[in-house]
Amino acid sequence: MYNTAMTTAALFQFHRESQAHMRCQDNLDFMRPLATGSMQLIVTSPPYNIGKSYESRKPLESYVAQQAQVISECVRLLRPSGSLCWQVGNHVQDGEIFPLDLVLYPLFREHGLRLRNRIVWHFEHGLHCSKRLSGRYETILWFTKSEDYVFHLDPIRVPAKYPGKKYFKGPKIGQLSGNPLGKNPGDVWIFPNVKNNHVEKTVHPCQFPVELVERLVLALTNRGDAVLDPYMGVGSSIVAALMHDRVGYGCDIVPEYVQTAQERVAALRDGSLRTRPMHKPVYDPSLPKGGHA
Ligand SMILES: C[S@@+](CC[C@H](N)C(=O)[O-])C[C@H]1O[C@@H](n2cnc3c(N)ncnc32)[C@H](O)[C@@H]1O
Repeated sequence: MYNTAMTTAALFQFHRESQAHMRCQDNLDFMRPLATGSMQLIVTSPPYNIGKSYESRKPLESYVAQQAQVISECVRLLRPSGSLCWQVGNHVQDGEIFPLDLVLYPLFREHGLRLRNRIVWHFEHGLHCSKRLSGRYETILWFTKSEDYVFHLDPIRVPAKYPGKKYFKGPKIGQLSGNPLGKNPGDVWIFPNVKNNHVEKTVHPCQFPVELVERLVLALTNRGDAVLDPYMGVGSSIVAALMHDRVGYGCDIVPEYVQTAQERVAALRDGSLRTRPMHKPVYDPSLPKGGHA
């Protein structure tokens, strides 16, 4: 168990030997024995109660009550400087949509969590709707437990549109006006979703792109910190955590997903796991080779 009282040497040994703690288990059972305040980042995407193969559809009230239990346990596990990122889309019932971030937001506020960003994740591919506009975004609610939270902007900066732009008047005339490390990525994130032609595609019907979790890991944690995904699926969050020397904790109730997560972690360790690089531009058919030259 991660313990802040461990010596540096013991901690190093611990990270080298057991960076990933993954179980095929219900998330409440997995989380209850974990130490209070042990997780720097909890990042997850729960079922949306829309009848996917891994969930049983239930009345919205029952779904929310179940989410309340999981969220409550997550808040207990979160460090005072920690962040909780809940990635959701819409629950759909009889053609009517219920944006789950709106539905679930009060549950986080009840625990005193503070919303820092409502990140819009835009992607190009998905179902083509005939009676409403096709959905091409989902959201990530990023909450912190306190005002004193970890946030690193530099590792997640993206290239500026005009990197050589300079002040043309005033005391800084002639100096670069932007940050040479790039600009703040903003709160609209464009990452391809993991469909059949995506390099990360596995058996899971709706996995996270690893690059999306990498951005959260780099911004919201430090090296050696613990990252938990209580609905880990095929372990995309664990992979992102391990790629950046964090410790990953995760569980899922479907044995095939947990097995795949273990295989992905093994592939990461032997250098054979392929992930889409964080800074690769999105394919643009108007450019030569889609801009991937
Ligand atoms: C939207 S998927 C998450 C996919 C994941 N982000 C990934 O990249 O693979 C939700 C996952 O929650 C799992 N799940 C559902 N109920 C669960 C429970 N009570 N405890 C743990 N996992 C659960 C499902 O099996 C499913 O894989």
